[in-house]
Amino acid sequence: MARILIVDDERSIRVTLCEFLRPDGHHCDAAADADEALTLHERNAYDVIVSDIIMPRTTGIQLLEQVRKQDAATQIIIMTGEPTVDTAVLAVQKGANDYLTKPIRKDAFLKTVQNALKVKQLINEKQALEAENRRYQKDLEETIERRTGELQKNMQGVIYLLSSVVEVRDPYTAGHQRRVGNLAVKIAEKMNLDKQSIDYLRISGYIHDIGKIVIPAEILTKPGDLSQLEMEMIKLHPSKGYEMLAKVNLPDVIAETIYQHHERCDGSGYPRGLDKSTLSRESKILIVADVVEAMMSHRPYRPARGLMAAIGEIRENAGRLYDIEVVEACCDLFLNDNYEIDEREHPILFPL
Ligand SMILES: [Fe+2]
Repeated sequence: MARILIVDDERSIRVTLCEFLRPDGHHCDAAADADEALTLHERNAYDVIVSDIIMPRTTGIQLLEQVRKQDAATQIIIMTGEPTVDTAVLAVQKGANDYLTKPIRKDAFLKTVQNALKVKQLINEKQALEAENRRYQKDLEETIERRTGELQKNMQGVIYLLSSVVEVRDPYTAGHQRRVGNLAVKIAEKMNLDKQSIDYLRISGYIHDIGKIVIPAEILTKPGDLSQLEMEMIKLHPSKGYEMLAKVNLPDVIAETIYQHHERCDGSGYPRGLDKSTLSRESKILIVADVVEAMMSHRPYRPARGLMAAIGEIRENAGRLYDIEVVEACCDLFLNDNYEIDEREHPILFPL
């Protein structure tokens, strides 16, 4: 059932037009002026408003403007006793959907109202469809967000697990990877790397020694000097880590950073002897973080050497073994920002 409002200051017209509409089963209200019409429309949200133009105080055109300010869907038919082109054009410009000239003929009136109702019906259907689409889109977004969160959490768990697997085999370096990852992130932030690179760098740091899984535990934990063969085996861990990670669906930069974490700027590192022209920015950071953290930590074959020894090492070899910009950022972090080694497991934003 459609809701229709007739607005006219002549009571006889209001009554007649409502009578025309009632046999079709429409709900029809009548208002004697624009103010009453606005009050009724606010309450009842009519599908069609049929309004006279010339009325006391507020004109039909002003009523039209008021309705259009808040509602583009209601169909508005203007009735005029002055059938001039100007009046019709003005009414349409102000947002009228159609107009009728007085005296109103029943058949023309009913036809015009029916046309307006058809248009309003189409608008209603379109709006319902749009609302349904918005609901669907919102549901979809919420589902994706929830699933992404779950996936992030699962993948984060996998990274923590991988990190702990190495530590089980090499308990002397417990927490080393986390400390290196956290330090590398702080250096990267100081060097203004973008957020994604920093997220990847934390992952690389947390699992950078993953390749040690394939090294016999007795070599990893041996307190004395290593034989040349044992040293060669230890040196396999960056490439073993790379091979393992290259098979999983992680961004290449993570596997590559791990591959490069024992290289040196002058090409004296291992396993490939890359130099500063081919080392990635992330690797240059991880290299320094790894050296500094290792020197500050106790090892079975030596005591911890402390912060100043680590700073001395990277400063002395800045430009030769270590990237100068990274060394500066690292020194600034410890000496000016009073950074302290951080062993906490920070959340990992996993690339999805
Ligand atoms: Fe390593």
